[in-house]
Amino acid sequence: SRVVAVIGAAGSGKRMAASVPKQFIKQQGRTILETTVSKFTDCDFVDEVMAVVPPDYVDGCRKLLPGVRIIPGGEERQDSIFAAIRQLDREDPEGDTIVLIHDGVRPFVTQDTIRAVTEKAFEKGAAIAAVHTKDTIRHIDEGTLDRSKLYNVQTPQGFRLSLIREAYEKAFAEKYYGTDDAGLVERMGVVPEVVIGGEENIKITTPRDLRREMRVGTGYDV
Ligand code: C5P
Repeated sequence: SRVVAVIGAAGSGKRMAASVPKQFIKQQGRTILETTVSKFTDCDFVDEVMAVVPPDYVDGCRKLLPGVRIIPGGEERQDSIFAAIRQLDREDPEGDTIVLIHDGVRPFVTQDTIRAVTEKAFEKGAAIAAVHTKDTIRHIDEGTLDRSKLYNVQTPQGFRLSLIREAYEKAFAEKYYGTDDAGLVERMGVVPEVVIGGEENIKITTPRDLRREMRVGTGYDV
């Protein structure tokens, strides 16, 4: 069946406070989003890449990202991803497609991680990239948590279309807004398989994240 990557890039980047949303910040003439998208277009097992972008950026992105399907996003991340899922749903009513959902601001993802998530999603219907938690995490009511049971969740997160479509429909019907896609699938009683990804696969959120990348020589100019 088909493998489609959906890159969520419709955020406004308020926490970055740059003149453009963070996914459009450039490094050596290339936007973060172009780098992220290229990681997926480089995978021979990915059949199509879609990017969900701010409505004002649709025309520009069609020029910037030839061969990538560009669609306008919504208010929240969940609205943006659902717009892509609804399009895929109309094209594949059977729902066999594997959908890889990825943040447009995680440009350092490796092909090994993308491949591992895709393979597990084929096998189990739901798989996510994550790393073991290095910090000690304290819950407001429950105190210090057992770190050996904690992961920092990343993207890509891969799902069979029939499952992720149902999870999104349920979430919207119940007005539930989560922070990732796996959280919606879990509300259906499905536990996504965890694939250990890499520490390099950070989400660029604040200017500090960019400066950190500049120190290690892969930086972007804010
Ligand atoms: O804001 P946050 O860092 O959690 O965003 C994660 C990803 O979701 C980003 O790549 C952002 O562009 C995307 N997003 C989106 N539509 C929104 C908000 C965020 O596609 N309305």
